[in-house]
Amino acid sequence: MRLKVNRIMNLIKKLLIGTGLGVVYSIAIAAPNCEVTIESNDQVSWDTPTITISKACKNFTVILTHTGQLNKDIMGHNWVLTKQQDMEAVAKSVVTEKLTDFINKEDPRIIAYTPMISGGEKTTVELDVSKLEIGQKYTYFCSYPEHSDLMNGLLEVVD
Ligand code: CO
Repeated sequence: MRLKVNRIMNLIKKLLIGTGLGVVYSIAIAAPNCEVTIESNDQVSWDTPTITISKACKNFTVILTHTGQLNKDIMGHNWVLTKQQDMEAVAKSVVTEKLTDFINKEDPRIIAYTPMISGGEKTTVELDVSKLEIGQKYTYFCSYPEHSDLMNGLLEVVD
């Protein structure tokens, strides 16, 4: 009996895949995507203008890659997350404070950040989604001096 059920299930599966419905079925039951990869380069830019995080994610992983060749001393990139209203002040403060890698680790306005990377490097930061609010506007940016105007994006959390 059990064998028969398995055979029938396999047949249904084959039919679904055969008609392309298998793909639709897989997407419908897939877990939320809890990871994003942002690609940056030597032209002071990156390819991800917005990030949407599902509250169903416990953690959300941000991966930043730098496909350029320049050293971080002249073309450094990092990924810094603040509330939207804090971004400008934080971006300005890192310049005047002359900090290592242009980040003040003690700044309470900084929700998360990655280390500064050079061309050819990659870095990752994990966000605790429970600490992010639905409806709050967040901004992420590169805190290397004068990069935040070109390298920024909006992050939001949805149900
Ligand atoms: Co940068």
